[in-house]
Amino acid sequence: MAYLYVKAFHIVLVTAWFAGLFYLPRIFVNLAMASPGAEYDRLLLMARKLYRFMTPLAVLALALGLWLWLGFGISGGWLHAKLALVGVLLGYHAWCGRLYAAFAEHRNRHGHVWFRWFNELPVLVLVAVVVLVVVKPF
Ligand code: HEM
Repeated sequence: MAYLYVKAFHIVLVTAWFAGLFYLPRIFVNLAMASPGAEYDRLLLMARKLYRFMTPLAVLALALGLWLWLGFGISGGWLHAKLALVGVLLGYHAWCGRLYAAFAEHRNRHGHVWFRWFNELPVLVLVAVVVLVVVKPF
């Protein structure tokens, strides 16, 4: 029974983390179109609060994933591929932190179109991870 509760909260926390991974780059799209002033400062505040909120969610989601893997001994080729994709997600999360810092210091060099493409990467990773963990193709 404990395994199912851990998996249930793993899925809840992964979902909450992804809400941030989907929304933060959208704020960056708007920041890239905004000129310095009240709107820019408001968007910057939203981005900072969201990043601070989604980081502990990521840590908890991954902690429960590790618990499922190491605590209940669930493994397989699919999990190794999944962990590689989780590595990509962690890199993306950290990259968002650096992009936020560039906006905060008014040294962002990417346009809003770049951020629209940047926003799509978590979608691709989510689809791949969910297929791996549900279908377990290998
Ligand atoms: C350190 C990172 C992670 C580890 C070690 C991990 C490990 C696991 C394990 C062992 C399971 C149980 C599989 C089963 O019961 O058959 C699981 C379930 C799941 N994981 Fe993760 N996970 C991690 C991160 C993630 C991330 C980032 C996502 C989303 C992109 C994710 C999505 C899921 C989903 C949707 C399930 C439920 C699958 C099902 O009910 O069959 N996990 N995870």
